[in-house]
Amino acid sequence: ATAEKGTYVHYMQKEIYEQGRSLTDTLRGRLDFEHGRVVLDSLNLSAAQVQALERVTIVACGTSYYAGLLGKHYIERLARLPVEVDYASEFRYREPVIGPGHLALAITQSGETVDTLAALEEAQAQGAFTAAIVNVVGSQAARLCDGVIYMQAGPEIGVASTKAFTASAVDLLLLAIYLGQARGLLSASAVMTLLEELSRLPGLAGELLEAAWQGSYYRELAGRFAHYQHFLYLGRGLNYPIAREGALKLKEISYIHAEGYPAGEMKHGPIALIDHQMPTMVIAPRDRVYDKMISQVEQVKARGGTVLAVAEAGDPILAEKADFLLPVPPSHELLAPILAVLPLQLFAYEVAVHRGVDVDKPRNLAKSVTVE
Ligand code: G6P
Repeated sequence: ATAEKGTYVHYMQKEIYEQGRSLTDTLRGRLDFEHGRVVLDSLNLSAAQVQALERVTIVACGTSYYAGLLGKHYIERLARLPVEVDYASEFRYREPVIGPGHLALAITQSGETVDTLAALEEAQAQGAFTAAIVNVVGSQAARLCDGVIYMQAGPEIGVASTKAFTASAVDLLLLAIYLGQARGLLSASAVMTLLEELSRLPGLAGELLEAAWQGSYYRELAGRFAHYQHFLYLGRGLNYPIAREGALKLKEISYIHAEGYPAGEMKHGPIALIDHQMPTMVIAPRDRVYDKMISQVEQVKARGGTVLAVAEAGDPILAEKADFLLPVPPSHELLAPILAVLPLQLFAYEVAVHRGVDVDKPRNLAKSVTVE
């Protein structure tokens, strides 16, 4: 029954709007408030094994790769382990430095992506501990790895991944807390705060999505922007991966060229592209790089560009400086990226619908790439 569209027009639409619930499912059984810890039993990684870890290598493709970029921030910040993130298709054909003492972590919704499986096999052959954040139970990745963290997101049918991205992000944050705690780096109160913030996330996502569902704002925005040929997406820090993922969503289903770029790099190239024909989407919740994002907005405006901003609801500065706001509820800095991706999914979806694309079956793409 969970794989039926019900009242929705597309699976992708359903999968976007059900993220309040899917995030609840992802968190189910993971937050142990009584003992102040996260529960990741199927990871099969003891505290002693965690203490012996030297580094983490994340391998993935597509949307899962962008989740990995966010995971790097989480793990480096909370567990102080160096993290490398690689496209699985690149990892398998170089001579990666990996071996005992390394955690090779795959992120894969399907658990069947051929490049990701090959990367895992390579890491395993070199003696790394292998684990996968995976949605499909019993998939190849789940069977191959030493440990698993399930997304618990339910079946994802839409070719463009949505709820698997937010589930992966949550799993990565849970993993970062787990590693940080096992390495003795997080105080009991710091862990409690993170558990509480995580438990609020599904509600915040649900509120944002409910407001979007009740209104027509995203359809109106889509009407205004569906005819553009190019888009620039900018984010920094935790929200750089969100810029990449937002741009990928737009390309995949609307066939509009979109580039996701680290905001600080704009002056080294993309700024040359800015004009009235190339709108810029900035992801700018009030985090430690917020002021820097504001100055990027000013730079774009000064060059005649149009700015859409994913911003905290009621942000007075961006309300004035940006042309259009895509509001997100205020949240903990580490959770803000997970909420910030939702407006970008909605935007890409509505633009694609406006352009008449079969959103669930975009041309040339497959849900899961099982051949090279
Ligand atoms: C394909 C899909 C993407 C997905 C990627 C990785 O390209 O169209 O939506 O992100 O594969 O898939 P995986 O199942 O490994 O996460």
